[in-house]
This record gives sequence, C-alpha cells and structure tokens, in this order.
Amino acid sequence: MTSEQELGRTLTVSLGERSYDIFIGPGLVDQAGAILTPIIKQKRTFVLSDDNVAPLYLERLFKALGDSKIEADSLVLPAGESTKDFTHLERVVKTLLSAKVERATTLIALGGGVIGDLTGFAAAIVLRGIDFVQIPTTLLAQVDSSVGGKTGINTPQGKNLAGSFHQPIAVLADIDVLRTLSDRERLAGYAEVCKYGLIGDKDFWHWLEENGEKTISGDPAATAHAVETSCAAKASIVAEDERESGKRALLNLGHTFAHALEAEAGYSGILLHGEAVAIGMVMAFTLSARLGLCSEDDAKRVRSHFEAVGLPVAPPRQIGAMKADTLLAHMAQDKKVQDGDLTFVLVRGIGEAFLTQDVSREDLVSILEAALAT
Ligand code: NAD
Ligand code: GLY
Repeated sequence: MTSEQELGRTLTVSLGERSYDIFIGPGLVDQAGAILTPIIKQKRTFVLSDDNVAPLYLERLFKALGDSKIEADSLVLPAGESTKDFTHLERVVKTLLSAKVERATTLIALGGGVIGDLTGFAAAIVLRGIDFVQIPTTLLAQVDSSVGGKTGINTPQGKNLAGSFHQPIAVLADIDVLRTLSDRERLAGYAEVCKYGLIGDKDFWHWLEENGEKTISGDPAATAHAVETSCAAKASIVAEDERESGKRALLNLGHTFAHALEAEAGYSGILLHGEAVAIGMVMAFTLSARLGLCSEDDAKRVRSHFEAVGLPVAPPRQIGAMKADTLLAHMAQDKKVQDGDLTFVLVRGIGEAFLTQDVSREDLVSILEAALAT
C-alpha cells in the first residue's frame, strides 16, 4: 500500500435512517467541500475548533468548503479538557443562535475529542437538534470519540455526566493531520487503538505487537490500517448497541479504573485520557488473571507491549498520595453503576472481553493497592 489513493477507505455506521459514512485517508480536509456537498442539507456550515487546531487547519477547511460554495462561520475555543463545560457550551449555543443558524445548517467539529464532544452536544440541543460533522484531528478522536454519537460535557461531579446520544452525519478522518500531533498525544490515542484488539480482535492485537511502533511514529499505511480497523470495530458495536444497553459497554475496557485515576489527577496534564486507559487496561488484565479468568501470560503480554511503546502501566508518582479507597469512591460515580453495583469489563484472554458485576471489594482493593505500590 503506497499511493494516497490506496490509503483511502469509507466505512458505514449502519443505524437505519441515522446511518453515516466514516471517510478515512490522507488529504480529506482539502476535500471536505466535495465530500460534504451531497450530505449536508444547506450550503451553510458553522465550524467549531480550538486554538491549537484552528491555526493549523481552519483556513484549509474554509478554502475546501468555499471551493464547493459552502458558506462557513467559525468559533475558536481554548484548547483543553476544561473547555468541555457548561460555560463554553453556553457560549457556543449563544454564538450559534446569534449567528441565526437554521435547522438545516450543519455544525462541523474540527479538533480532538474535546471539540467533537462539545460540538455534538451543542448540535443536539440547538433548535432541538441540527446536523453535525466530525473532522477528528487526534488519533484518539479518529479511532473512538468521533464515531458513535456520544456527545457531552463534564460537570463538577465528573466527566461526561451531561450529554446526549446524537450521531454525526459524516466523519472525515484525515490521517495527514495527525502529523502535527505531539508524540505524547499520539501515544495516548494508540492506547484506544489497542483497546479494539484487546476486547475482540486477537489478530489485530498481534498486528499491533508487530506494527505498533510504525503506527505511533505516523507511518501512513500503518496509521490508515489502525484507524480503519478501529473504526470498523467501533461501527459494528455501535450498530448493534447504539445506546449502550449491552455490548457497547465493552468499549469501556480499562475505563472504570481510568476515570478514577483521571479524577484523582484532577483532569490535569499529569495523565492524559489515553494514558489512564492504558493503565486501566493493564489493571483489568491483572484483575482477570488474579481471578483465574485469563492467563498470566496474556496479562504480561499486554503490559510488555505498552512498556515497549512507552505507554504507562501504573499510576504516575505525581499522584502517589492516592489511596485505594479514594479511587473506589471515584469508581462509585461511574455511569455504569446499576443498583449500586459497578459493571466491569474483564477478559478471558486477549480479544475476549466480557461484562461482569461479580468483582469483590477485596479483589479490587488488592489490585489498586498493588498498582499504587508499583
Ligand atoms: P483534545 O481534544 O483535548 O486534544 C488533545 C490536544 O491535541 C489538544 O491540545 C488539541 O488542541 C491538540 N490537537 C488536536 N489535534 C491536533 C493536531 N492535529 N495537531 C496538533 N495538535 C492537535 O483531546 P482528545 O484526546 O482528542 O480527546 C479527549 C476527549 O475525548 C475527552 O474529553 C474524552 O472524554 C473524550 N472522549 C469521548 C469519547 C466519545 O465516545 N464521545 C470517547 C473517548 C474520549
Ligand atoms: N468510547 C466509548 C463509546 O463510545 O462507547
């Protein structure tokens, strides 16, 4: 696979009348007008972006839209997780209403998961719901947050606790834009790529063991394959269980631990979401091995691969004062709590994740204490 043409792929998220395509390949920002012309209801769009991404790609997107005679306004917000809050949502909604967007206007999210989640939520509530397009610019957003329609913001009580299911009408994953992403952000996104191998695709995991370094360093063919395989896995799960009444919860492998670690780190730069997910997935495998559900070898294999590519496998020392009890208290806030019980994603091996509520407090405390002592 060498030519740019060969790197391009289109996948479909099959959700009846809410079905949409995920376009994956190089150069898609420059083709946005041509791709979106047959999809949008009105030749009017409003782009939301952040102040890292906008200087890099907003003019190019405007040109691409302009070449197809699509009108575009924009609002550029501060980069970072703290933008995903009520204050910025209010600003976005008021700006859109002042600009007199119409029911047929399309919002475009140009950025990572923060801009994608916020734009999607604004699209869900403005004028009781308008269309939006995702142009994800981080690896994490390309393989996870831009697909599947989970939108929302954080509240003082926790992450993503206010939001809505609102599917985009298209996703344009331009693998070229990942070139400007920092090494650390790319690596954090790679943890979510690994998740798809670990939950249900052993062959993909083997491919990642061989090709992980190439993917992380931005090799176009490896990146395209990793993004396509991840999006195909997510599209299939979302098509089966859009509202997370069952199978979709498997996508949360490692996330219950990760969210607790992120909360304890204060959503600071100490721990990126993908880094927390890597640590959480190691904990899920360690717990599964301890419970005799999966082999010690599989747990070691996951840890070794993460260590080899440079992902963290234990909580960082900067949040070393953390206690198992504090983490358990954060875990009790999880959205997956039902009748007071947490649902965990555990594994019978690599590629064999399943859901269970059958985890004792003692086992949890022991896993958390061991991880904190590392
Ligand atoms: P992010 O949006 O904060 O982006 C990370 C950083 O990279 C930011 O500083 C951003 O400005 C910068 N950036 C983005 N694209 C760039 C590019 N091409 N070049 C240079 N810099 C670039 O973070 P993220 O990791 O993309 O997303 C994390 C968010 O996604 C969290 O809020 C998380 O809750 C959410 N999320 C949502 C879902 C979902 O299903 N909706 C799934 C996973 C994560
Ligand atoms: N990121 C988990 C999901 O979309 O369900």
